[in-house]
Amino acid sequence: MPVVSLKEALDHALAERYGVPAFNIVNDLTTEAILAAAMQERSPVILQTSVKTVKMYGRRQLFDIVTTLIDAVDVPVTLHVDHCPDRSVISDCLAGGWNSVLFDAHELDVAENVRQTTEVVAEARRHGGHVEGEIEGIQGVEDGIGSDEASEQQSLEVAVDFIERTGVDCFAPAIGNAHGQYKAAPQLDHQRVSDLVEATGIPMALHGGTGLSAEQFQDLIARGCAKVNISTAIKESYMKSGLEFLKEAEAKDKWDPPSFFRHQLAAVQQTAAEHMRIFGSSGRVA
Ligand code: 13P
Repeated sequence: MPVVSLKEALDHALAERYGVPAFNIVNDLTTEAILAAAMQERSPVILQTSVKTVKMYGRRQLFDIVTTLIDAVDVPVTLHVDHCPDRSVISDCLAGGWNSVLFDAHELDVAENVRQTTEVVAEARRHGGHVEGEIEGIQGVEDGIGSDEASEQQSLEVAVDFIERTGVDCFAPAIGNAHGQYKAAPQLDHQRVSDLVEATGIPMALHGGTGLSAEQFQDLIARGCAKVNISTAIKESYMKSGLEFLKEAEAKDKWDPPSFFRHQLAAVQQTAAEHMRIFGSSGRVA
């Protein structure tokens, strides 16, 4: 299985200033479509699973589905748990084959977050895994986790201290970004990304990718956002292409599941491939 660690994937992307796309998968079809895009574009890719998706399938079944599909490709893939505040889910996924986790402890005070994230990093290392850390909520609810309230930013000193003391491999700063479609044009604190990367040397994770422009992505990637998260665009592409197909099926009274699946797969593959080209990850795999 062409698995790559989060650290290896992101350190290379940070050095070469491209973004590794981290797409949230929701089932076998979205996984297959994203992997097809990665093959088509010769791009590394991070497959992310929300806690909701892990719980919906059960960890073992989800892992088996995803790894069966990963086994069929020859591009490097990282398997990551997105926003997870629950230590038992983190432990279960690390023991069960995920090689990367976002321990989302932003609701704890920073001292307790440092203490617990340090433990998660040690636990991940025992499994050969890596950790993304977070001290500020990213605005917007993602698969039941998070809040619509604007998040409170910590000072640069607090963020740098968190990164240094915990040893996280990647950090998710709040920079005016938000999960879901943007209701108003975001005011992004891009300088914060530059400052954090300069002070720590580690790659940043850009959350709330859906709805940002190519210019915004490329500016933030140039500043050190080496992991770029896309969830809503994948979900919308999957569901809207399905709706479009079903409306036509109803109009023609023609019901053929394989054509339905192919239609959705092509739509999600195209959405993923477009993001890979914008992030500069296309063509990075021989
Ligand atoms: P979007 O849903 O806005 O693409 O954000 C994805 C994300 O950041 C997942 O953690």
